Amino acid sequence: MSAAPTAAHDNTAEPVLVVDFGAQYAQLIARRVREARVYSEVVPSTMPVAEMLAKKPKAIILSGGPSSVYEEGAPTVDRSLFEAGVPVFGMCYGFQLMATSLGGTVDNSGAREYGRTPLTVSRPGSTLFEGTPAEQPVWMSHGDACSAAPEGFTVTASTDVVPVAAFENDEKKLYGVQYHPEVMHSTHGQQVLEHFLYRGAGIQPTWTTGNVIEEQVTAIRAQVGTKRAICGLSGGVDSAVAAALVQKAIGDQLTCVYVDHGLMRKGETEQVEKDFVAATGVQLKVVDAQERFLTALAGVSDPETKRKIIGREFIRVFEQAQAEIVAEAGAEGEDVAFLVQGTLYPDVVESGGGTGTANIKSHHNVGGLPEDLEFELVEPLRQLFKDEVRMVGAELGLPDEIVQRQPFPGPGLGIRIVGEVTKERLDLLREADAIAREELTAAGLDREIWQCPVVLLADVRSVGVQGDGRTYGHPIVLRPVSSEDAMTADWSRLPYDVLGKISTRITNEVDDVNRVVLDITSKPPGTIEWE
Ligand code: XMP
Repeated sequence: MSAAPTAAHDNTAEPVLVVDFGAQYAQLIARRVREARVYSEVVPSTMPVAEMLAKKPKAIILSGGPSSVYEEGAPTVDRSLFEAGVPVFGMCYGFQLMATSLGGTVDNSGAREYGRTPLTVSRPGSTLFEGTPAEQPVWMSHGDACSAAPEGFTVTASTDVVPVAAFENDEKKLYGVQYHPEVMHSTHGQQVLEHFLYRGAGIQPTWTTGNVIEEQVTAIRAQVGTKRAICGLSGGVDSAVAAALVQKAIGDQLTCVYVDHGLMRKGETEQVEKDFVAATGVQLKVVDAQERFLTALAGVSDPETKRKIIGREFIRVFEQAQAEIVAEAGAEGEDVAFLVQGTLYPDVVESGGGTGTANIKSHHNVGGLPEDLEFELVEPLRQLFKDEVRMVGAELGLPDEIVQRQPFPGPGLGIRIVGEVTKERLDLLREADAIAREELTAAGLDREIWQCPVVLLADVRSVGVQGDGRTYGHPIVLRPVSSEDAMTADWSRLPYDVLGKISTRITNEVDDVNRVVLDITSKPPGTIEWE
């Protein structure tokens, strides 16, 4: 066996397991472990210990969770987990489970703490805390508290309220903290986590996106063999990186399909047609379906109806393109057996994990071809978080405009026009959106904002004055938000001079727009998009 694939294989073969006790913490912990360049996977707390150990984990992390260890039916782990010789790090609920399982005391004496709390480190030279300040802010969220550590454990930190806020047993390689080291507000949390991984568990930081590429190229070649694959490009990061990775693995056995529904932003279709093709050398089939989408959307204002129409038309057009590719392959059509998808790790975890490859059936309605085309999925990004996907994309040589692109909804500008979607309105919105993007980029704000929808209130008109005359035009809404995952968001506090410049340019340069307004609503209660 050659050295490189073995190294890549070893990286994922012995993962750090993050046991998920509910709430949203486990995924974030897994991400932080990967930031420490160690491969990690999330597993449910219901997984039997023997199954966890069968994965040969280099270490196990027990996440926080919303339960109390004394609650009836609260999730738990078998004590054997702590006796398997695998290093374990318990955080919050995981810390309390470790404490109670091993004979320590956790009680609900009312010693609750929520939010940012000062932690006092009593053992500055300990495995977890070495080199971190004696007093450091940490993020707490607990009702119960540990009052006595299990036998053999050293208490390493406390707070005003909790006498045992961290403990460790170096001999058994068991560690725990009452707080959440994975959240930003625990300012030394990443360092503490890395101390566990490198010092406590003795793991080398070797996980890199370079490994991912090597490993996936090998895996894709093994899966696809000499057959052919199809990939739909949406203009987004995930499908672009998935396609580039598969292209690297199987070259011309891959054909990409791009459905131009006419709802893209200015320049984005060209980026796919030219820049992506230039960077990857991929075979691309572009379907111009703009008229078809406009016709289907005519007269429709309701946002959900628009979404349904766009989704339906998209599938129809895509399947027709698939069928054409199969037909063009002639007698070898049945070799077109794979469909590439840019599924990411959070989707995998949220849909209950699983490592198998699903088969999907694609129904289509083109005469002369089999009723159902059956494709096996190729999902080369299933192990990756979004930031890792961007790194892989950059490493594969994709341009920044594609790799660093903001999230953009599948239905595109169709749900950024409040009212009926027409060609004129799309053109107008595209101009306004391009100006906003240009100015945000010029001001160096791209990395600070998560995304900035620009919305046309086509059903609203207001009075204005431009030149010598009275106007009766439409407002444009700017919706810049900051967010980590789009589940919650805050409106971005953009500098007034940047906002001023965007406003002046849009009202000067875009016909029929005489007002620019700023959306200052957080999510919740507002969503990011207007429709
Ligand atoms: P909301 O508006 O729900 O958006 O706060 C959260 C994130 O999802 C994107 N979004 C969509 N993406 N199809 C998509 O593929 C959709 O119908 C859709 N609606 C919203 C939105 O841009 C944001 O990133």
